[in-house]
Amino acid sequence: MLAVSGVTAVASEDPVATRKALMQSNGAAAGLSGGMMKGEIPYNAAAAKAALASFNAAATAFGDYFPEGSDMDANTTASPKIWEDMEGFEAELDKFQTAAAAAMQAAGKDGPADLDAFKAAAGSVLGTCKDCHEGYRVKN
Ligand code: HEC
Repeated sequence: MLAVSGVTAVASEDPVATRKALMQSNGAAAGLSGGMMKGEIPYNAAAAKAALASFNAAATAFGDYFPEGSDMDANTTASPKIWEDMEGFEAELDKFQTAAAAAMQAAGKDGPADLDAFKAAAGSVLGTCKDCHEGYRVKN
């Protein structure tokens, strides 16, 4: 109970900063993933696993930081559509969570066996970013 109320307190203090920080970790993991997928960064199984773990952590936590009224924050690019259509937003979030959890599962203990395995795992996660952004994010 204590742990739960602690999380809620943090969430209500600055949910916008928290959800943006989670998305920035997605951005960093996507950069690392893309670099390896394009061959700009040598493939490394531990780095690949870290990127997938980062997606998975963000996917798990992200949905907790959308309290009513937090679309009015000056710093947010979250679309008001999230609160108008919470079900649709949650469906996009669910796709992201499912893909990230499956990718983590496939990566196993030592990370994806090779670049092709990583491309398949990360590709399915990265496909969900754009879908949600198109519907539920605005350009400021
Ligand atoms: C379920 C919806 C959803 C998914 C899936 C999603 N995003 Fe986002 N993303 C958002 C929303 C909403 C914002 C705006 C948050 C805000 O400003 O309050 C955002 C913002 C961002 C930002 C900007 C953060 C900032 O500092 O303003 C980056 C970078 C980003 N997302 C990357 C990604 C990447 C990479 C993925 C896929 C791995 C991804 N997102 C998946 C909804 C999503």
